[in-house]
Amino acid sequence: MTVTLTRPAWTTKLEVEIFDKLLDKHAPHLPKKRSQDPRPPQTEEEKENFIRFRIAGAAHDLFIVQVLARVINQVSDPELQLFLSRQLGDDGAHAENTRRRVQALSGRDPIEDIQQQVDKHWEYQGDLPIRNWQGFLSFELHYELHIVSLLLLNSRTSKINDPESGKFAAEVILPDEAVHRLGVVDWWQRKFDKASPSEKEDLVAQALEADEEGQRRRNQYLRDHWQLSHKAIGIEIADLPIIYDAWRREVLSYFLDIPISKLPKLVSVND
Ligand SMILES: [Fe+2]
Ligand SMILES: [Fe+2]
Repeated sequence: MTVTLTRPAWTTKLEVEIFDKLLDKHAPHLPKKRSQDPRPPQTEEEKENFIRFRIAGAAHDLFIVQVLARVINQVSDPELQLFLSRQLGDDGAHAENTRRRVQALSGRDPIEDIQQQVDKHWEYQGDLPIRNWQGFLSFELHYELHIVSLLLLNSRTSKINDPESGKFAAEVILPDEAVHRLGVVDWWQRKFDKASPSEKEDLVAQALEADEEGQRRRNQYLRDHWQLSHKAIGIEIADLPIIYDAWRREVLSYFLDIPISKLPKLVSVND
């Protein structure tokens, strides 16, 4: 009798299971569920920090839009085109909603500040996201999947939020982002399944190399962004580096179909 082992499908349930397992191992004191609802920012300083944090969020989404706009006409796979067009539209809508919430809270349109932050993403990423499929995969992994550890921690430990932004995030952003992560998994899976065993080895090596480059390029940004997140919305970041590194190992192990223990030592966010 032949037994075929297949990986479980990548779902939001699996993400939470993996994340909770990592918390048990690395930071058991962190909560598995939110214990208190966030409150709106109150003092001038809180409002200012919150607005800076939201502008950074809008820049993350607008950067995705700008990368996808360049990549979508370079690819010939119609299935990938359809996924990318959905992702582009969704992340554009997320950026636009954040822009308008900041405008409502601050009284001015932050579009120029958002673009300035997008320019910083282009600076530290260089041409990696648009260089070739390896660089683009690294971009998708970093901007959609590796950040899940931060998002989950945020959903459990943040202390400040704008109620309207929270409602939009729960109703629109969270389900959209789950679709984006699945789309990336599907694209890679289709590419991987078509390859011969020796090609697979090559694909894995190339994907890993690009992802490592992405991590090195992103380290400073991530560390700064986590500080801002702590200051603006009060999330617990003391254990985030170890959780982030461990989460990224889990994602790559799943993606590349390599057991965690067989993965080489990877670039750390602290490097
Ligand atoms: Fe988004
Ligand atoms: Fe997204």
